[in-house]
Amino acid sequence: MDPRRNPFVPSAGVRPPEFAGREHLVEQTSIAFDRIKTGLHANSMFLLGLRGVGKTVLLNALHEDARAKGFETIKLEVPDDSGGHLVKGLVPGLSVILRRLDRIANMEQKLGLATAALRNFAAIFRIEYEGFGIGATPATPDAGSGDLEADLPELLRLVAEAAAARNSAIGIFIDEIQYLSKAELSALARALHEAAQSGFRLIVIGAGLPQIAALVGDAKSYAERLLLFPEVGPLNEDAARRALREPIERSGARIDDNALQMIIQETQGYAYFLQTWGKFAWDEANDDRITESDLTDAAPAILTHLDMNFFRVRFDRCSELEQQYLRAMAELGQGPHRTGDIANALGTTSSQVAATRSKLIKAGMIYSQRHGETAFTVPLFDRFMLRAMPRLVPYSARKGTRK
Ligand SMILES: Nc1ncnc2c1ncn2[C@@H]1O[C@H](COP(=O)(O)OP(=O)(O)OP(=O)(O)O)[C@@H](O)[C@H]1O
Ligand SMILES: [Mg+2]
Repeated sequence: MDPRRNPFVPSAGVRPPEFAGREHLVEQTSIAFDRIKTGLHANSMFLLGLRGVGKTVLLNALHEDARAKGFETIKLEVPDDSGGHLVKGLVPGLSVILRRLDRIANMEQKLGLATAALRNFAAIFRIEYEGFGIGATPATPDAGSGDLEADLPELLRLVAEAAAARNSAIGIFIDEIQYLSKAELSALARALHEAAQSGFRLIVIGAGLPQIAALVGDAKSYAERLLLFPEVGPLNEDAARRALREPIERSGARIDDNALQMIIQETQGYAYFLQTWGKFAWDEANDDRITESDLTDAAPAILTHLDMNFFRVRFDRCSELEQQYLRAMAELGQGPHRTGDIANALGTTSSQVAATRSKLIKAGMIYSQRHGETAFTVPLFDRFMLRAMPRLVPYSARKGTRK
């Protein structure tokens, strides 16, 4: 069918033609926003899921909802684990918020305090931003001690109080939270702790890979109780059907039921794969109707496309040993797997391959949510590994390379 009318968007962070299956999470967050707005407590949330499940799209939808409810918001993405990104992202965001609040009403004391605190904070953490003059600099250096864990909660409290004085609240939306450093996580947790105790209006919604849950607990033991960790998983069967059928029908075509069933089977409901299969199916079909035989014809091209564009880019970044480790995991299936079993499959011991495993975790290829377990962060990666490396080569401890 005409590619110009193709509704599907296999991409990153692009709103899909049908945003399916997240109703419960959207509702849960919407309640939290309403509570925070009226000064009641609600837990902040880290949305956790594998690559390509739809975390960014969901985070963006929640961000829009918060704005529609009158929140003052900041949205940032942590690009990598090199550090310092939280402060760099927050300062300009908070500066914009204070300007907006200043426009909403005339200068008053709370806003002056928050502005002065932001100035101190930016100066001590050496962040340049376009300063603006509201209020006098107070004698005490609020949020300017240089200790992030003390300064960030103080700054957010002052900004949240200025927002509350204008009947608003602060929402911070952070993508790729698994890259935040322990110090940044601690500072955020501390801010949430203080918000919970003294009732200032702040909510943080993060999205990232599942390993962050363990890091949060390491950063601050109470953090686990201040945050919820909703899982963003594959779409269930009903939602996956809607994600495919609705856009097709709205675009004036239809899809046979067994064709739908085949896509659900092949993608297991993972959002990125659904968009990819939908796109190829549309292009393949004729006469405004997608059939099972269209899919059978398109399947080899779809798999090649996914291998080249989604899986291989990640695979190619790994060293030979890392690739062998991933291959051994694939031998055992989708996972999660006991770390000892993976070493066994490689013909070695866990300690011999511990460094390789750590590097793969740091690179975001695998994660360990529970102690002693290892899983892929990329859905269906096991199947790709079997295609990319048909043979499992045992690990040789002495040479540190292939036998
Ligand atoms: N609820 C949904 N229904 C249908 N398609 C969706 C849904 N959510 C996301 N998608 C589609 O899935 C793809 C991946 O979405 P997104 O970029 O949000 O994933 P992600 O989890 O953030 O991935 P990554 O971990 O790589 O950042 C996009 O093409 C998007 O349009
Ligand atoms: Mg994303």
